[in-house]
Amino acid sequence: MSDDRTVLVTGGAGYIGSHTCLVLLEAGWTVVVLDNLENASEVAVDRVRELAGPAGTNLTFVRGDVRHGADLDRAFTVAPVDAVVHFAGRKAVGESVEHPLWYYDHNVGGTVRLLEAMQRHDVRDLVFSSSATVYGEPERVPLDEHCRTGATNPYGRTKLFIEEMLRDVAASEPGWRIALLRYFNPVGAHPSGRIGEDPVGIPNNLMPYLMQVAVGRREHLTVHGDDYPTPDGTPIRDYLHVVDLAEGHRAALDRIDVLEGAVAVNLGTGVGSSVLDVVAAARAATGHPIPLAVGPRRPGDAAEVWADPTVAADLLAWRATRTLAEMCADHWRWQQANPSGYRG
Ligand code: NAD
Ligand code: UFG
Repeated sequence: MSDDRTVLVTGGAGYIGSHTCLVLLEAGWTVVVLDNLENASEVAVDRVRELAGPAGTNLTFVRGDVRHGADLDRAFTVAPVDAVVHFAGRKAVGESVEHPLWYYDHNVGGTVRLLEAMQRHDVRDLVFSSSATVYGEPERVPLDEHCRTGATNPYGRTKLFIEEMLRDVAASEPGWRIALLRYFNPVGAHPSGRIGEDPVGIPNNLMPYLMQVAVGRREHLTVHGDDYPTPDGTPIRDYLHVVDLAEGHRAALDRIDVLEGAVAVNLGTGVGSSVLDVVAAARAATGHPIPLAVGPRRPGDAAEVWADPTVAADLLAWRATRTLAEMCADHWRWQQANPSGYRG
């Protein structure tokens, strides 16, 4: 249903952004990526073009920063923009505790500048990358969009504040249609193995860490606590294939006309997996024994975080379909083919 429409994708060279650009090109969108390459490589953009085949010519890359109005204006004038998908920002919890102002500048400041540019260029359709982190310590599971929100660190607060700001903007003027997509735990890679997650330094997150053990870059996985009140004692999360997540953005753009104002939507599978479930799936996918050591709990980790994805199904006609086995197999294909990520 996208035909000849143009979408500006901020942060489109990143992990989720690159997969989303590919899905959007395949669906017929013209795509303009604005990315400062602070946490990404232009190689990812080249590979998206290559994977998209003839549609790859419909992708334009603009190197620039969402915090700079002039960079935004350059991106908005490549082609008449119909909608924006906003990924650009910083996402590491520990880093946000150490450098809170930097996080507020990138995430909140960057979104303010983007909204101003949208007003200048008369664009009112926006899909925003929010996170399950806005639920803070979960009130209950599965988490639905009515659950209490809260935040336990500066990164989470930037997402909460941006959600509130987007609601204020939508309430101030008719015409805004904003999807606040709350992602659960995106993992995996495109099945081609050509694009994937490329963390800088030691990965914080479970799946990239496991895959680096399997490829021989790290010796063992430290399980951050096995004394949680869950069946096997390790925390439960809602892992979601990044291609399913990318398709969620296409669905949000396709159905944006059903949104009135700013609307929160969970993107998760509705299925929880423990750390040990993920380790077992990763062992099966990689054939590597993946040695474990049990360490203390990681501060701030909740026992169970998983989604009720009913609103996404009802409103966006979107449902995740890929299994944990596929997430591991696809992540492993990417990791094996690119052991040092895009730098390799
Ligand atoms: P990523 O770091 O791979 O992608 C972010 C992209 O934004 C990078 O390409 C980076 O270079 C770019 N960028 C950062 N600051 C910028 C700026 N000021 N101007 C222009 N470009 C800038 O991260 P990701 O995992 O793809 O996450 C994308 C979005 O989804 C982020 O907003 C993140 O907070 C959100 N999110 C991610 C997860 C996750 O687990 N990966 C979960 C929930 C929400
Ligand atoms: N884990 C380990 N060992 C590791 C890494 C992770 O045992 O080396 C465990 C964690 O303790 C947690 C689970 O694996 O129980 C998942 O951890 P991730 O870091 O992969 O994911 P989280 O759910 O903790 O983090 C996610 C996002 C963050 C977001 C956070 C807040 O990745 O961006 O949710 O809910 F801030």
